[in-house]
Amino acid sequence: MIRPMTKADLKAVLAIENEAFGSDHWQAKEFLYELEENEFAKIYVLEKDQEVIGYVDFMVLYERLEINNIAIKSDKQRQGYGQMLLDKVFAEAEKEGVEVISLEVKVTNVKAYNMYLKNGFIPMRKRSHYYSDGTDAIEMARGI
Ligand SMILES: CC(C)(COP(=O)(O)OP(=O)(O)OC[C@H]1O[C@@H](n2cnc3c(N)ncnc32)[C@H](O)[C@@H]1OP(=O)(O)O)[C@@H](O)C(=O)NCCC(=O)NCCS
Repeated sequence: MIRPMTKADLKAVLAIENEAFGSDHWQAKEFLYELEENEFAKIYVLEKDQEVIGYVDFMVLYERLEINNIAIKSDKQRQGYGQMLLDKVFAEAEKEGVEVISLEVKVTNVKAYNMYLKNGFIPMRKRSHYYSDGTDAIEMARGI
């Protein structure tokens, strides 16, 4: 089941976030800002057997949708759940009349890069030293 995140999901989401993103991970205050203050942001969680096993955070900025974070608990990866969350993003994009979806991905993140390529995202440009550890990002985009 995919549903909007609430404050009650914060602990589970943070655990997945910490595991997935290491030194670049978001803190509670960043998720709370998205949940309570950022009118453009949406966060959905994926629940299986009453456990939150993944989430996606994105912003709808008129004709553009930006994916900020997407992550699946490590022991639940490669079972199609990331794709389910991405499909939810595509459905929201269509509902909101979005024209372009964009995101940044670490050049070293083969799993995510493959997932985006498979879903029609095109590498647009490199952003040097984008992450706190100095790694470059690739900006990717696809139309709806
Ligand atoms: C990226 C991520 C969300 C994918 O979620 P997932 O549930 O494992 O992905 P799915 O099982 O739905 O697979 C979708 C596609 O992703 C790619 N993929 C997923 N795992 C992969 C792996 N270990 N190696 C290579 N490609 C992989 C494949 O293209 C896959 O399609 P396929 O199985 O038909 O080949 C997950 O690996 C994750 O949480 N990673 C850590 C956080 C992260 O890096 N987020 C992205 C930030 S930009």
